[in-house]
Amino acid sequence: SAIPVITIDGPTASGKGTVAQRVADKLGFYYLDSGALYRLTALSAIRHQASLSDEHALSKVAEHLDCSFVGGDVFLAKENVTDAIRKEEIGNTASKIAALPGVRHALVGLQLRFRMAPGLVADGRDMGTVIFPSAILKVFLTASAEARAERRYKQLIGKGFSANMADLLKDLQERDARDANRSVAPLKPAEGAYILDTSNMTADQAVEQVLSWYASER
Ligand code: C5P
Repeated sequence: SAIPVITIDGPTASGKGTVAQRVADKLGFYYLDSGALYRLTALSAIRHQASLSDEHALSKVAEHLDCSFVGGDVFLAKENVTDAIRKEEIGNTASKIAALPGVRHALVGLQLRFRMAPGLVADGRDMGTVIFPSAILKVFLTASAEARAERRYKQLIGKGFSANMADLLKDLQERDARDANRSVAPLKPAEGAYILDTSNMTADQAVEQVLSWYASER
């Protein structure tokens, strides 16, 4: 397809979401937060009391996910779950069920449907490697674990949740290890991806870098 896709993959709290959203706004492109789909699946599974070791049941939950994205808000059926899916507990559950091939497979079609004219910016773990291998620009965003834990801390406090730096750092390292070591769609830079370390960068600086790479790819 000729519809351009920019993929932004990277570890937890690397700033992907902020950067991807701003790049999409600048270009007038659609935006896919693929992590939200795993988080929605996790929340829906908890609501349905599905066992977190029952791959078949979890795949069904993913396949029948009734979600929508309106402005910056995320809905599960008619419920606004924008903040609820950001909780650490949901992120951890999401990362566990994201290791199940059946769950990943069930979410492929939904992700592909976000590719609409004039273009898409997709963020996640496997956007450039698995879901949109033909993307015109692939970026792998990283930052030190400490920088990421600090960002996550500020994010959670900003949303009115309580948070503890030591716990966050530990969670984040566990989640990174799980995402990088799983057998299906592990977190790793796509072939040809530009690597961007944002430890000492503002989000706007990262956005400018991605936009300039995009300009040079066209
Ligand atoms: O990016 P975010 O932290 O919202 O993602 C939550 C979890 O969903 C990640 O820890 C990861 O395990 C999983 N995920 C994934 N593939 C993606 C996006 C997210 O496995 N494309």
